[in-house]
Amino acid sequence: MQFEIRPYHPSDLTMLYRICLQTGDSGGDATPWFTDPDLLGHYYAAPYAILEPDLCFVATADGTPCGYILGTRDTRLFAERCEWEWFPVLRQRYPKSLNDDENRDKRIIDLIHQGIEVKEALSDYPAHLHIDLLPLAQGRGMGRKLMNRFINQLKELKIPALHLEVGKKNSGAIKFYERVGFIRIKEFEHSMAFGQILNT
Ligand SMILES: CC(C)(COP(=O)(O)OP(=O)(O)OC[C@H]1O[C@@H](n2cnc3c(N)ncnc32)[C@H](O)[C@@H]1OP(=O)(O)O)[C@@H](O)C(=O)NCCC(=O)NCCS
Repeated sequence: MQFEIRPYHPSDLTMLYRICLQTGDSGGDATPWFTDPDLLGHYYAAPYAILEPDLCFVATADGTPCGYILGTRDTRLFAERCEWEWFPVLRQRYPKSLNDDENRDKRIIDLIHQGIEVKEALSDYPAHLHIDLLPLAQGRGMGRKLMNRFINQLKELKIPALHLEVGKKNSGAIKFYERVGFIRIKEFEHSMAFGQILNT
C-alpha cells in the first residue's frame, strides 16, 4: 500500500466526515455511539476544510483518503466566521433538544449551538488543529509527516504559535503530541491543551 500526503481537494469532504467519525471515540470508532453519522464532522472537521482549505492536508492510501490534519490560523477569527458562515444552517437543522437525556448526538448538537469556544488561557497560541488517521494508516510516521506539513504552512503564514486539545482518555494521542514537540499548557476537566511556539 502506498501512503502519501497531499493538499485537501473538495472531493475529500465526505471522507473527512467518515474519518472523523471512525476515530471520534478517544481515537477509536465512534460509529456505534451516533444516530447521525455526520454530527462529529459538522463540528470537528468540515468547517476547517471549507473555511481554511490551505490548512488542510490529506493522507492517502493508494490514492484514497485515510487521514487528515486540519485547523485554523486564528481561533478567534475562525470562531467568528463560523458564527456567520457555518453554524446558522446547522442550528436550524439540529434544534437544541430540551430533554435531559445525555447522548453523543445531543452533546455535539449542544456544541453546534455553543459555537467554537475561544479559551483565554490559550490565546497566546492562536492557531489550532485536529489530526486523525484511520487504523490502517497509524504507526507508520504519517502523523508526524502531517504535523510537519501543517506546521510548515503555519510558518509560511507567519503564525507565532499553535495549540490543540485532546481528551484525557486518549493516551496514544497524548504520547504522540509529546513526541512531535508539543508541551502541556493547560489542563481542563476532560481534556488537556498542548501548545507549540513556532520560530517564524
Ligand atoms: C494520534 C495519531 C495522529 C498519531 O499518528 P501516527 O501516524 O499513528 O503516529 P506516528 O507514526 O507519526 O508517530 C510519531 C511518534 O509518536 C509516537 N506515537 C504515536 N502514537 C503513539 C502511541 N499510541 N503510543 C505511544 N507513542 C506513539 C511514535 O512512537 C512516534 O515516535 P518517534 O517518531 O519518536 O519514534 C494517530 O494514531 C491517530 O490518528 N489516532 C486516532 C485518532 C486520534 O486519536 N486523533 C487525535 C485526536 S486528539
